[in-house]
This record gives sequence, C-alpha cells and structure tokens, in this order.
Amino acid sequence: MTTTESSPPVIEARGLTKSFGDVQALSDLSLSVNAGQVVGLLGPNGAGKTTAIKMMTTLTTLDEGSAAVSGFDVTTRPNEVRQLIGLAGQSAAVDEKLTARENLELFGRLYKIPRHERRRRVEDLIEQFDMAEFADRPAGTYSGGERRRLDVVAALIANPLALFLDEPTTGLDPRSRADLWDAISMLAAQGTAIVLTTQYLEEADRLADDILIIDHGKVVASGTPETLKRQLNRDVLEVRVATEDDVATVLSVIGEIDGVAADVAGRRVGIPVGDGASRSLELLRAIQDGGVAITDFQLRRPTLDDVFLVLTGSLAVDTEEGAA
Ligand SMILES: Nc1ncnc2c1ncn2[C@@H]1O[C@H](COP(=O)(O)OP(=O)(O)OP(=O)(O)O)[C@@H](O)[C@H]1O
Ligand SMILES: [Mg+2]
Repeated sequence: MTTTESSPPVIEARGLTKSFGDVQALSDLSLSVNAGQVVGLLGPNGAGKTTAIKMMTTLTTLDEGSAAVSGFDVTTRPNEVRQLIGLAGQSAAVDEKLTARENLELFGRLYKIPRHERRRRVEDLIEQFDMAEFADRPAGTYSGGERRRLDVVAALIANPLALFLDEPTTGLDPRSRADLWDAISMLAAQGTAIVLTTQYLEEADRLADDILIIDHGKVVASGTPETLKRQLNRDVLEVRVATEDDVATVLSVIGEIDGVAADVAGRRVGIPVGDGASRSLELLRAIQDGGVAITDFQLRRPTLDDVFLVLTGSLAVDTEEGAA
C-alpha cells in the first residue's frame, strides 16, 4: 500500500456534466482515485465513458462540474494536468508510418524526457511489454492486439501518476487481454492511479477497486465489485426433478417453508436463497423428505452480468469464459 487514508486523491472529479446538442452525454459523474487504485467506468455503447475520460484529460470542456489531477484543475491548469497523465484513448494517437520504437521515442520527446533517459525508458517498455518482435515495423502493419499494446505503452512513457485507459482491451483475444490485465494490475501495484473504461463486466470485476456503472450518461450504481454483487443478494438454488408431479411437490414443500416465490422452467425450479449455502441444504433436505427424487441441482451466484442486466436492462457484450 502506497497511500494512507488521509492522502488526497490523485484524480478527483465532481459533478461532471456534458451534453452535445440534445444528447445528455454525461450527467453528474463524480469519482476519486487514490494512488494505487483502479476505478472502473462500466457501461454499454454510448453510456458516456469516453466523454468522461475526455473531460478528465483536458480533451473536451466541462459544461458543469470540475476535475483535477494532483490538485491541478483541468480547466485552469490543463498544461500541468497533461504532464501528469497518460491516456490511451479509443482513437489511437500513434503514427501509423512510424515503428513502435519511433512512436515511443516521439511520445518521450513530447513529454520532454531527457534523451538518455528516454532511450532507456523506451527499451525497458519494449522489453517489459514483450514488443520486441514487432517494435521495428511500422505501426500500420500491426495486428489489433499489437496495436492496442502500443497505445497503452505509449501512455506509460512518462511514468504518469494518473493513467486513463479507454476500453484498453476491446477487440483483444483472451490471451492478450490477460496480458494487459496483468500489466494494469502491476501499474496499480506500483502506485499509479487508474481510471479504466470497459464494457466487459469480467474486466471491471477483475481489475477495479471501485466500479461506477453508467448508462445513458447517468451513474446507475457504484461500489466495489463485491458490494455490487451483494446488493443483488440473489443466489439461486436450481433444482431439477424428473416429473411434473415432482415440480408441484417441490413448490408445495418450499411454499410451506416460508412461501418463497420460485421460478419454474420445465422441470427446473429456481429458488431464491439470499446468500446462504446452509439455506440451500435445508431446502434440498426438505425436498427429499417430501419424497422427490432430485436429478440435479446447482447454486447459482449472481455475477456482475446479473447486476448489469438488472440495472441497465441491457446485456453487456462480454461472453468471455475464463474467469474462475
Ligand atoms: N462530439 C459529439 N457530438 C455529438 N454527440 C456526441 C459527441 N461525443 C459523444 N456524443 C454522444 O454522447 C453519448 C456518449 O458518448 P460516449 O462516446 O461518451 O459513449 P461511450 O460510453 O464511450 O460509448 P462506446 O462504448 O461506444 O465507446 C453518445 O450518445 C454519443 O453519441
Ligand atoms: Mg467510448
């Protein structure tokens, strides 16, 4: 841990609000990120994620609210802010005609890193992020994943205190995504304050200390991944039985216990059990005692997908397997 409770946040935004004509792109978004923390902005297409990032990184003006990095206000001290942050946006800043090495060198110059140090920094990053294989080819020839890696690494050149990553892993294959996750975790562990946007629930769950779920420009829920999941408090015990009669028996047995409303699909009965495994055991025993042969059962825990679905009414694009 690199921070104490009392140290001021590295990134602080209050009441960020922005509209484009009739479109309210963002409304009253507040967040604060300490050194070593990752805050995730999670939302579907058009939710306002990029707008928020642009406001915090001086790329677009604020209609209302304020944002600051290390105490420097984005509106009144944009130059200082730019020197302190790294940004990997959705529309990449790299030059297609230049190689990765040349691009990184150029970014280093923009950040006024002294030549000697710059060389070393570029080589370190290329090695650390496993880019040697393509570092001397023009960026225009890169695969999607190679390109994305260069975008993110370019944001790291000046060792920024605050890092903004706008959908860093969109379009990457699972392995490249996992690599980038490791890299992001490592940067946070080294003390970088990170704001990350994503449409991948799994990604927010895995990386973010705090998550803001946004939809149509509004924050619809926020908290740690655990809190968000707990808010839902909806473990479901799914019991499968052999016959229609068994379904009826199951319903009457659990109805006698405390009148919970079960959800029936064919010969499967879904029973909300709050967040208790012991409750499931109790129910299973009662069902068996009622003379029903259970052919299968499982306890389904809520995922961030469930939270997201309940809150926004739309299913996120993530269907990735692999989260354990
Ligand atoms: N320059 C602009 N002019 C007009 N409308 C804009 C502009 N920029 C953003 N918007 C609108 O504001 C809303 C939020 O857009 P934004 O790019 O912030 O969403 P997003 O969450 O980043 O979406 P995505 O996941 O697709 O990148 C959208 O309705 C978008 O069409
Ligand atoms: Mg966006």
